[in-house]
Amino acid sequence: MKKVVLASVLIASFAWCSGVPAATDPLYQKECASCHFGYQPALLNKASWEKVMGSLSEHFGTDASLGKEDSQAILSYLVRNAGNGKITTGNDTTRITLSAYFKRKHREVPLKQILQKEVGSLSNCMACHTTADKGSYSERYIVIPNYGRWE
Ligand code: HEC
Ligand code: HEC
Repeated sequence: MKKVVLASVLIASFAWCSGVPAATDPLYQKECASCHFGYQPALLNKASWEKVMGSLSEHFGTDASLGKEDSQAILSYLVRNAGNGKITTGNDTTRITLSAYFKRKHREVPLKQILQKEVGSLSNCMACHTTADKGSYSERYIVIPNYGRWE
């Protein structure tokens, strides 16, 4: 009995550290996963998603505006599934990559690996996290282009 409890605690904490629920909403996938992959809702908190969705006409140097209905439906999906734990704590910006947690986790990634043309910036999660689209960021599935597995 004890063993079973311990095993499930381990599995639960493992899943929590390296993963977030996948972004499955079809409208979100259609509208928000064309220029970049669909960042999972749990990667930002409610305040951040409100800022992102409130400024789509000036979205990181591009215009990502949507009609009112689609925009409201997506905002509601994002807010319903927003993060509220260690990944998003203290981050009320529009960027996942500016959270303290994110910066800490990527501190050891050499700049030349990030700036190479196959990656470009840390916002390009899929370039290194081969399973990012499934919400899985486990170190086991990290492959840096031209450098290989992360160990
Ligand atoms: C027309 C292209 C385009 C569309 C459509 C688009 N984005 Fe973006 N998005 C960008 C660009 C460009 C960046 C900046 C990437 C970078 O800095 O490398 C970005 C960055 C982001 C970031 C910040 C990532 C980071 O650096 O932490 C979030 C969050 C985001 N987009 C959410 C959305 C959402 C939500 C939608 C749908 C409503 C959306 N995007 C649709 C082009 C787009
Ligand atoms: C240049 C490659 C690269 C890019 C791009 C990148 N990461 Fe990472 N990421 C890593 C590496 C390498 C680690 C492991 C770092 C370590 O353990 O020191 C990591 C760790 C993580 C972790 C912690 C995993 C764990 O089990 O502790 C999360 C979560 C994560 N990244 C999310 C993201 C997200 C979300 C994006 C995009 C917004 C992203 N990463 C972009 C390379 C990258």
